[in-house]
This record gives sequence, structure tokens and C-alpha cells, in this order.
Amino acid sequence: MSNKAESIGVIGAGTMGAGIAQVAAQGGFETHLYDIKQEFIDAGLARIYSFLKGSRERGKISAEEEKRIAERLTSTTQLEDFKGFSLVIEAAPEILELKRDIFKRLDAICGSETLLATNTSSFNVTAIAAGAAHPERILGLHFFNPPPLMALVEVVQGDRTSEETMEKATALMRAIGKTPARAKDTPGFIVNRIARPFYNEALRILGDGGATVETVDRIMREAGNFRMGPFELMDLIGNDINFAATESLYRSFFEDARVRPSPIQQRMVMGGNLGRKTGRGFYVYGKK
Ligand SMILES: NC(=O)c1ccc[n+]([C@@H]2O[C@H](COP(=O)([O-])OP(=O)(O)OC[C@H]3O[C@@H](n4cnc5c(N)ncnc54)[C@H](O)[C@@H]3O)[C@@H](O)[C@H]2O)c1
Repeated sequence: MSNKAESIGVIGAGTMGAGIAQVAAQGGFETHLYDIKQEFIDAGLARIYSFLKGSRERGKISAEEEKRIAERLTSTTQLEDFKGFSLVIEAAPEILELKRDIFKRLDAICGSETLLATNTSSFNVTAIAAGAAHPERILGLHFFNPPPLMALVEVVQGDRTSEETMEKATALMRAIGKTPARAKDTPGFIVNRIARPFYNEALRILGDGGATVETVDRIMREAGNFRMGPFELMDLIGNDINFAATESLYRSFFEDARVRPSPIQQRMVMGGNLGRKTGRGFYVYGKK
């Protein structure tokens, strides 16, 4: 690693982590991708390389740029490697205890110069930072799926996040070409809270037998001008991740019926029908 102060660490090489690592490397930062097993990192890197290859083939980047971006990406299975980095972004599974544990460990490993961010969709940043010795440098950086294509990043201020941390993180997001939007640490921040009825009402229509998955998606795309319909989007996000986000918001809003999770989606999660990542969700993937 050439310059640790210009380095960004990403924890979790899944759907979001790999995309965030790609964005950081494209933005010119030395980027270290962490996961608990090398095979998960390799799968994440393979997705990044394939994305970059597609971008080159479509003429969006040159072969030279593709090579330089790939060279900026390295990997590790040791959190200790993040010591001295300017920023570490956590994109591990949406499990509060797991995230708290990661932040406690990072807090002990990284000096005060390192900003620590969570990509959580549904937990409070304040709750994730609980137990850390330096919560002032912990914040939310909420990217959207897929990170290389979605400009917006919500920059979330926990109860104890310092103003300096917010400013530095906002500047870093601009430096990697993103559009930062400040958000308070309220359940679902801005976008996920507004998006909840988009998913929930679609699931209710399906449950009521009001329309098929395909019809709802087609109407929202063709008549509603949405890029994707709600079912396509749930499959892209991952039904497990989307369901966990709804459950978490439901609890945060003291079981408000407006955000009650759907038994249809719960069944899909329990059956392993998680969406694109497992080849089957509301749609079947990988087959003609
Ligand atoms: N999927 C989305 O559309 C989306 C959008 C915005 C935010 N998020 C948030 O991003 C985070 C990650 O979601 P995802 O969709 O990338 O999940 P994912 O399941 O695709 O990836 C999670 C990754 O974390 C790794 N992991 C497992 N245990 C770990 C541990 N103990 N330490 C570090 N890494 C570990 C897994 O091996 C996996 O590679 C979640 O907090 C989610 O709420 C997801």
C-alpha cells in the first residue's frame, strides 16, 4: 500500500461492498477490500472486474484506466490492515451485533485520523457506534445499489458524530464523484423511509391478488417512469436485505402498521429465494 492516508477500506465484499470498493478505486484511492474469507473477496473482485470490462467494451473507460483501477484494488482478511487509513466503510450484513462488534474492533485498531462509516440501511448510526471509544468519528455513508451507477450517498450524522467528521466525509464523497446529501439519524434516513411504501404496497397488491408481479413492475416502469418496478428492485437489492430493512424500520417506528413487513417476502427469505444473488426471487435469473 503506497499511501495509507489516501486509502479507503471497505468491509464486506458483497453486493454493496464490492460496488463501493469499485467507486473508491475509480475515484483514485488505494482501496482495500475486506471479507471474512478469501473466496468471498475473490467473488466480489470478479464482479468488479466484470463490470470494468463491460465499461471498457462500451467505451466508457480506456484499457489503461481499467488496468489502473484494478491495480488500486487490493484485499485483506485482517481488519488490522486498516490502521492509518483515511476512511473505512462497513458493508457487512444488516445485523446490529455484528456491526457493533466490527466498529468496536475498528475503533481499537484505527487512530483518530480514520473516519469510520457504516452503510447500514436501517439501523441508527448512534446504535452502531454505541460502545466505541470514539463515536465522534463514526458516521453513516449510505450508498445505493448499484454504487457505481447511483450518484447519491446519504451522509448520516449520529448523535455523537462530530461536525468535522461530517465535513471530511462529505468532501471525500465528492472526491470519489458522488453526490452527498446530509441526513439525520432517523429510521430509514431519507430515501429508505420514503421507499418503504413502494415495496410494501406492491407486496400487498400481490397478497390481495390485485395484480401479478410482472404487471405491477411493468406499470411502474412504463406508466410511472420508474427505472425499475418494486419486485425487480427487491430482487436486485436482495429480499433478505430488503426484508431486514423493513423489519428494522417497523421496530424503530414502534410497530407502525404503515411499515409492517410482508409474510410473502418473509417466506421468500426463509426459502432462500433472495433475488438475483441466488438466481431466484420474484423472477428466475440465469436462464433464457
Ligand atoms: N443491497 C442493497 O441494495 C443495499 C443498499 C444500501 C445499503 N445496504 C446495506 O449494505 C450492507 C451490506 O449489504 P449487501 O447487500 O452488500 O449484503 P451482502 O449479503 O451482499 O454482502 C455482505 C458481505 O459481508 C460479508 N460478511 C459476513 N460476515 C461478515 C463479518 N463478520 N465481517 C465482515 N464482513 C462479513 C459477507 O461475506 C458478504 O460478502 C447492509 O448493511 C445493507 O443494509 C444494502
